[in-house]
Formats: sequence, C-alpha cells, structure tokens
Amino acid sequence: MKQDPGPPRGQDVVPPPWSLDDPTAAHAVEVAPRVWWVGDVVDDPFQSHAYLIEAGRNSVLIDPGSSLTIAATLDKVREVVDIDDLRWFVVHHADPDVADGLHQIDALVTRDDASIVSEWRSAVLLKHLALRLPLATVEELGWSLAIDAERELRFLLTPYLHFPGAFVSFETSTASLFSADLFGGFNRHDGHAGGCRRSAVSGRQSLGAESG
Ligand SMILES: [Fe+2]
Repeated sequence: MKQDPGPPRGQDVVPPPWSLDDPTAAHAVEVAPRVWWVGDVVDDPFQSHAYLIEAGRNSVLIDPGSSLTIAATLDKVREVVDIDDLRWFVVHHADPDVADGLHQIDALVTRDDASIVSEWRSAVLLKHLALRLPLATVEELGWSLAIDAERELRFLLTPYLHFPGAFVSFETSTASLFSADLFGGFNRHDGHAGGCRRSAVSGRQSLGAESG
C-alpha cells in the first residue's frame, strides 16, 4: 500500500482549531505559553471568553466575565495561580458580560496593589459598579503594561468596535492579540441560542472576548 507522504516539506502542520465542545473546556486551557483560556461555557446567543496571563504575583486576568460566569472562571484561574496572584484586571469595555464579575473579584482580592485597567470612557461606566479596587486607565499607563522582565501588554484603541473607547491588548512574547469584542457577535442559527460554541484559540492569533 502506498504510504501517505504527509504535508509538503517545509510546510507546518496546522492542528484543527480547539473547540468549546472539547472536554478540556471544563478546565483552564493553555492557548499560548503561559496564556490560558479561563472562560465559562454557556448555552447562550454569544459566548464570552476570559483569559489569564500567568505571571506569578503579576498575573493578569483579561475580560473577567459576568456575575453568571465569574465563579467558573475563578475556579479555572485557581488551577493555574492563586487568586491573590492576580494583580491586573484588564477590562476592554464595560459590557456586563465581561465586567459585571468585577463585583465578586472586588470582594475576593485583598492585595493593595491590584488594579483594574481600562480606557477612560469605560472607566466612566465602571465607576458605577462602586468597586473598592482602584482603576488605572490605559492613558495613564502610557498604552502599555510591563507584566514582567520579558513580557509586555500593548494597548491599541479600536474606536466604536464596538464601544467608543474600545481597545485591544497585544502580548509581546507570544504575539497574542486579545481582541475583545472586535469579532464578537450573536449567533442564533438553527433557530435556537447556543450555536456559538466555537473558539479557535492558540498562540499567535486573536483571542477574542466574545464569539458568535
Ligand atoms: Fe461587548
């Protein structure tokens, strides 16, 4: 029998995209070195995605999630780091599906150098959550955040996609773009909610906060 010659020489083998239907979605999933998907799979017209950048005491939680999903997200965070290791909470905009879980985070985090990071227009709205945690704007941070000696988050404004002050974050060492809701949307095909359980996530590509 003739053997399968495999892919042409010099051509990378591209693995199939990871799916939320995969059993591994019950746990934190490392989608790039020390970058973890920590979302909660919900049966809804859209699916939000939270991410953790593992960095010891400077760990970063990106778009934490809602009051419905935050408990599952924090359980997945605990699989990787302690809650007290979370220093930064990057919130790309103030929609409740990505930001309302800050209430629970606010009650859990005890370290006094922890901070929420957002753009000034989202900060105006996040203020109404009446949180104890301080908020630093990306403007105040100079549009970047040093995570550790090797890694940096660079913030880029994406006006009106889909909020006036929406922005995305680019992690330099893995070339991962946390694309927030840039490609988000609703998906009600087949006449019911829940057709949006796909999320292709790996290093060197966009890691969205929402998929549809
Ligand atoms: Fe949104």
